[in-house]
Amino acid sequence: MDTLDWLRDADPTVPNAARAYNYAIGEPHNLHADRQFAEDIHQASGRTFLAEAQANRAFVLDTVRTLSHDAGIRQFLDIGCGVPTRTNAHDAAPHADIVYVDIDPVVVGHCRHLWSGHPRIGVIHGDVRQPEQILRHPDVTARLDLTQPIGVLLGAVLDFVADPGDAAGILTQLAAAAAPGSYLALSHSLVTSRNIAQQDRVRRLFRQTATPLYPRTAAQLHTILDGWSRTEPNLNPITHWHPEPLHLDRHAPIGAIAIVARNRPCRSRPPAGPCQGSRPPRPETADPAPASAPLAPVTHCDDDGPAAAQHSRHRKMFCVSMQDVGTSP
Ligand SMILES: C[S@@+](CC[C@H](N)C(=O)[O-])C[C@H]1O[C@@H](n2cnc3c(N)ncnc32)[C@H](O)[C@@H]1O
Repeated sequence: MDTLDWLRDADPTVPNAARAYNYAIGEPHNLHADRQFAEDIHQASGRTFLAEAQANRAFVLDTVRTLSHDAGIRQFLDIGCGVPTRTNAHDAAPHADIVYVDIDPVVVGHCRHLWSGHPRIGVIHGDVRQPEQILRHPDVTARLDLTQPIGVLLGAVLDFVADPGDAAGILTQLAAAAAPGSYLALSHSLVTSRNIAQQDRVRRLFRQTATPLYPRTAAQLHTILDGWSRTEPNLNPITHWHPEPLHLDRHAPIGAIAIVARNRPCRSRPPAGPCQGSRPPRPETADPAPASAPLAPVTHCDDDGPAAAQHSRHRKMFCVSMQDVGTSP
């Protein structure tokens, strides 16, 4: 691709969320307005945005790798895929079939330019708020076999859905359409009692873009995830996914979380409790655990699937509870 082709349809005067994120994760496909916007968000967030964006990208790619290598997932639907980066989902899972979906025509054009004709990649223009249109799209039905498990990637995209009811409906529809045993990788910005002022500033800044942002509380995130298996609370600080230390004040409030879930309940769940190895969700109103609170011992849970069982980092993640994330405002 010619180095300038990707921005042919971009408006250089308006900051763009996809390209600001691209800048935040250290990639080159962004313009001055996007970079300035990303730096403004970084300041408004309490200087957490850049590190959390990098951790978010690590979460998405690491989860694809894990699901592909350890859970045998061979097909992915990456909704809100973002601007192409040096490493993409298909690089993390080279033997998988992948459909990339984004609402941003510049992103879609860039993906198509790079990957049209690729035997394992489809690229469609789509809106996460209309999951049925995505699922019925001929490029999706031709490439993905929805009778077999898939990995649904929703990396930092449900943040752009205004209504929590709509977000819940989207997740329910995706859970119902995907074959049993499918996985969801979801990351989302988080509002807590510690960062409510920062998130408010961030939200106001995002109004400059075509895609306003709607950070959510832990309670709201639990509610919208209702259709997916919640054998673990799974609201884990996004930074836990980054393989290396990040430039982040260790006392900085958590601004984003990640979740890996499945779309069917734990089959071997004993009548009176969660499946072996998982902790029951603790009530939202419980006192927050101190940051140094020990994690529950990690034990095997068959119904979290091989990915959870075999990937040590994810095993740890699956045992971090909401209380480690922080309280809701
Ligand atoms: C922060 S980027 C995340 C990129 C990638 N998923 C990741 O986590 O690394 C969010 C992406 O979601 C896209 N997006 C925003 N609203 C969307 C919508 N309603 N439907 C589909 N994509 C959307 C943006 O264009 C952008 O590319």
